[in-house]
Amino acid sequence: MLVLGIETSCDETAAALVDDGRVVRSNVIGSQAEHHRPFGGVVPEIAARAHVELMLPVLDRALVEGGATYDDLDGIAVTAGPGLVGALLVGVAAAKGLALATDAPLIGINHLEGHVCAVQLEHGALSPPLVALVISGGHTSIALLDERGRFSTLGATIDDAAGEAFDKVARFLGLPYPGGPEIDRLAVSGDPAAIAFPRALSGGGYDLSLSGLKTAVIRELRRREAAGEAVDTADVAASFQEAVVDVAVDKTLAAALAHGVEQVAIVGGVAANSRLREQMAARCAREGLRLLAPAPALCTDNGAMIAAAGANRLARGERSPAGFDADPNLTLEAVEGLTSREGSA
Ligand SMILES: Nc1ncnc2c1ncn2[C@@H]1O[C@H](COP(=O)(O)OP(=O)(O)OP(=O)(O)O)[C@@H](O)[C@H]1O
Ligand SMILES: [Mg+2]
Repeated sequence: MLVLGIETSCDETAAALVDDGRVVRSNVIGSQAEHHRPFGGVVPEIAARAHVELMLPVLDRALVEGGATYDDLDGIAVTAGPGLVGALLVGVAAAKGLALATDAPLIGINHLEGHVCAVQLEHGALSPPLVALVISGGHTSIALLDERGRFSTLGATIDDAAGEAFDKVARFLGLPYPGGPEIDRLAVSGDPAAIAFPRALSGGGYDLSLSGLKTAVIRELRRREAAGEAVDTADVAASFQEAVVDVAVDKTLAAALAHGVEQVAIVGGVAANSRLREQMAARCAREGLRLLAPAPALCTDNGAMIAAAGANRLARGERSPAGFDADPNLTLEAVEGLTSREGSA
């Protein structure tokens, strides 16, 4: 089954061709980073306009690089939410147009479910139950995927998403946007124990809090500056990263053990972080759990993960009704509203 996946929820215009939900034939990402870099973050109106400019060239490249024509498509999957509404609408409109033109079945996909399905591009078909740490620029949550393929959120950040915290701390360290990968690189030469940053909500429950940590880093940088003390940015980056990783790993492992699952997945942009991958692998090995992580390049937003999620649902006979819409606030639990069984659309 050849599925085209389209992703435009934030600042990547992406399209990919995936065979049987796991073999990537092409994965084209038209990055808008240059458009947003002067502003130090994503500007929604600029993102929507850039998606309009990039959508058709990105689609054409995905088809050419995948060695297919539009007539070869067995399905079209598109991110329906969550994300920036103006950005989502561009992908959804493109997908609806293509579905009409080709007669290929259309399915709207939850972006976060897409991140989880990136796992199958690395490890083959998902076999739930599993606990997933969904850790990205806009979200940080711990979710259970049950035997029936249904998600329930066990805990989430009560303030900042991890990627947001990485990007803000990076800005204060004078690193370019997006800052997550920059902190990852810089931290390699720093000491993670140099500064004892706080680990908030380290008690029971699966919720996390990251804004206090971000503020603590900024306060420490200002204090040192005012006192004329030299700042070793690598130490700051490593100590901050260690605090995020500690909390994320502890909470995820606690959830996995409490729910008796044998597999843990880490997905979303921040799952590309080398220290998070290393620490999560060590803890999972110690607890006898299997760690599922997409290749780093498939952790950040891409069309292949949307195609993979689409292939799962299309194979089960699910379709989205022709009138389905983008939903900027779509939750992981709400995916059912996007689909209907064949014939009932
Ligand atoms: N190696 C890394 N270490 C830490 N953070 C990283 C790394 N690579 C990417 N990130 C962060 O991941 C985020 C981007 O992730 P993703 O592409 O999934 O985000 P998004 O689409 O903006 O958010 P969401 O998926 O919640 O809608 C950015 O905040 C970026 O800094
Ligand atoms: Mg994302």
